[in-house]
Amino acid sequence: MENNVFEGFYKKTINERLQILKLFSNLQESEIDLLKVNGPLSIESADKMIENVFAVHCLPVGLAVNFLIDGKQKVIPYVVEEPSVVAAASNAAKLCYFSGGFQTGADKSIMIGQIQFLEIKDIKKAQKQIEDKKEELIQLSKTEELPMVKYGGGLIEIQTRVIESSYGPMLIVHLLVDCVDSMGANTINTYLEFFAPKINEMIGGRAAIKILSNLSIYRTAWAKAIWTQKALEESTKGAIKGDKVLDLILEAYEFARVDPFRAVTHNKGIMNGISSIALATGNDWRAIEASAHAYASLNNSTYQPLTKYYKDKDGNLVGEIKVPLAVGIVGGSTTINPTNKICLKILDVKTAQELSRIMAAAGLAQNFAAIRALATEGIQRGHMKLHARNFAAAAGADSNLIDRVSRMMIEQNKISLDNAKKILEELKSKNN
Ligand code: MEV
Repeated sequence: MENNVFEGFYKKTINERLQILKLFSNLQESEIDLLKVNGPLSIESADKMIENVFAVHCLPVGLAVNFLIDGKQKVIPYVVEEPSVVAAASNAAKLCYFSGGFQTGADKSIMIGQIQFLEIKDIKKAQKQIEDKKEELIQLSKTEELPMVKYGGGLIEIQTRVIESSYGPMLIVHLLVDCVDSMGANTINTYLEFFAPKINEMIGGRAAIKILSNLSIYRTAWAKAIWTQKALEESTKGAIKGDKVLDLILEAYEFARVDPFRAVTHNKGIMNGISSIALATGNDWRAIEASAHAYASLNNSTYQPLTKYYKDKDGNLVGEIKVPLAVGIVGGSTTINPTNKICLKILDVKTAQELSRIMAAAGLAQNFAAIRALATEGIQRGHMKLHARNFAAAAGADSNLIDRVSRMMIEQNKISLDNAKKILEELKSKNN
């Protein structure tokens, strides 16, 4: 067994951690220097956020534009590594801007916390005991000792479920808590630990697991938008008639509706928007992803698209989305990471619901953009243009030459790093 050089890693300073890592992973001093470069989030602040910090990771922050949401113009910061995502959202938003943009709504910030009760002698009786004491328990929760009460939130409902398992029947108690403007994970867990012993005393048995559920079905946001046939036609620069584009989009949507293999990719595209905003605003994107995909399987037990499309009586395309969105604007990394704070300021949201409504609109825009492109010119054309720019930049083209190099690659239909380097050399040698 090799000596564990990471023993006590958490007690080391950041420089010491970097030196250990340098030796362990054979890093160059220049790579260590790169790891030390700070963005707005200082390495010292990052060290307070998670454990064993040795660097701060950077990703591009792009701005999706042209959004009209509930009558207000909005710009939306995205943190994402994938080219075309921001451009696609901005384009989809532009195409519905003059038909009213996005109409959105959201539930209150109700999160579910679960307590798993085992070894209960009479489950039916236990359920009744909880039901009978429910109002009393809710009253008991109205103490400022518990989080969210002073902000108007707190425990609003207690539900019970009985689930068969190989350990026999389990009694699952759900606490529904309004987490107001926080994501609520810590809040929920505090409520669960406060109530589990009290309920346990009442019903006997054993309170085992106590944790929030990330399937936040009571915390959804929704959005709707209309794309006219005129806008659909313009999106193809007149190459395809509007009514035809509409039919092609409905056909593409139907594919996702009937095939889970397609529906997952369809929903992944939606999450390109939603998760990018989650990252920009310091929200837990894993929780959001888990919840969205589970939600997509809840009805009639086949995995379904999170959006739906239809033609309205005026012949326009209507798109709708409904998605669980447990997001906060206070607490967590939003209090430490300056980029998150600035992104929230750019979004100009005063409540968690407002943020979730913007995310729903962005998810819908992202999905419309993807299926419109897939159903018409295909996804690669737009992608390749952006890839060409990336290759040109990676080949060393400065801002004056990026456009020229990428255009030449597209004309030659040869988009690669090698070709970008070759073209750049040729252009430079011509100039010398
Ligand atoms: C790529 O990140 C997202 C898409 O695959 C979504 C879709 O297929 O609907 C283009």
